[in-house]
Amino acid sequence: MRESAPVFHDEQSGSWHVFRYDDVQRVLSEHGTFSSKMGGDDPSETGQLFAASLITADPPRHRQLRSLVTQAFTPKAVEALAPRISALTDELLDGIASKGSADLIDELAYPLPVIVIAELMGVPAADRDRFKHWSDVIVSQTQAGPRTADHSSTNREMTEYFLALIEHRRRQPGNDLISNLLMAEIEGQRLSVAELLGFCSLLLVAGNETTTNLIGNAVLSFTEAPGTMERLRAEPALLPQAIEEVLRYRSPVQSMYRVTAADTAVGDVRIPAGAPLVAWIGSANRDERQFRDPGQFDIGRTPNRHLAFGHGIHFCLGAPLARLEARIALQAVLDRFPGLALSPGAHLERMDSTIVYGVKELPVS
Ligand code: HEM
Repeated sequence: MRESAPVFHDEQSGSWHVFRYDDVQRVLSEHGTFSSKMGGDDPSETGQLFAASLITADPPRHRQLRSLVTQAFTPKAVEALAPRISALTDELLDGIASKGSADLIDELAYPLPVIVIAELMGVPAADRDRFKHWSDVIVSQTQAGPRTADHSSTNREMTEYFLALIEHRRRQPGNDLISNLLMAEIEGQRLSVAELLGFCSLLLVAGNETTTNLIGNAVLSFTEAPGTMERLRAEPALLPQAIEEVLRYRSPVQSMYRVTAADTAVGDVRIPAGAPLVAWIGSANRDERQFRDPGQFDIGRTPNRHLAFGHGIHFCLGAPLARLEARIALQAVLDRFPGLALSPGAHLERMDSTIVYGVKELPVS
């Protein structure tokens, strides 16, 4: 598509699709022309869980909402979580060390980010299976297609759960993100309940599925390319760069939505105001105009200006956390499982999503 139709209009759905690196970068960052607003500001009006969250806000509201949570996610704040993330990783890996084979998604890549985000939000870790179910349903809900009964019951269940949690924290504040958000004020005004719910559901989904897939995609890419595991063991300093290459080569988030705020043009294609638009991050990250040999997985690649975490004002808030979790988890896998390989004959099934990219299971032995 980057060659034949870099800006493609899907007549059936009415949406526009952008595939080239420069265009994707522009669509993600030029917020005045490409709005993140989905529907109105009121979730009951739009029926969307993220309607009142920063990922679907434009300035000035976006800047105000983002300023409330940036502190919790700066590289420095996140680095303080390293000992806890290491301890959790060790516990999870202890569980599989005694077995001859295991599903790395189930045993490590899924639980680690869920427990971390649950602890940050002050949610009992015991509820993490419910989190998984909810975030799976929400990811499938962001697909085109009709809403199902599962979607509405999940939305209802999740809303009730977070409302009860918010109420609990209001009465008994702790040292967690929800308690801090309850205290926060923008120009003398507290966040609305819809905005609090928006934050909870956004962090739940953004913080889970994406990091799970980064860790899973990394193990897949490292075991697939001969000699990679050995090289990373010999040169541990290469790991952060190797993680950036996984983010580029197998981007956990493949696409993001925008709506045109005014008549515009991308390349030489005119797009009217109010048009839904999809920026294909996965395609941009394989654009030969930006990357040499883009189809090659190269852990030594520099520079590597991938767009896996987006670009501009919506640049991923959780990027430092995702990078840290991936670094700790992958280093532990490299150290503790010298002979790690994909199980022979493993059938790898991709997740059913055009937005999130990862495999459902990763059997290793
Ligand atoms: C935004 C990807 C992990 C929280 C984004 C965006 C992308 C992205 C592409 C930009 C959205 C846009 O432009 O509309 C990823 C990937 C991750 C990851 C690939 C893991 C590998 C996380 C984690 C958290 C998080 C761990 C939180 C704990 C957020 C939030 C936003 C965001 C709150 C919205 C920021 C804003 O609109 O200002 N992420 N993310 N993400 N991400 Fe992540």
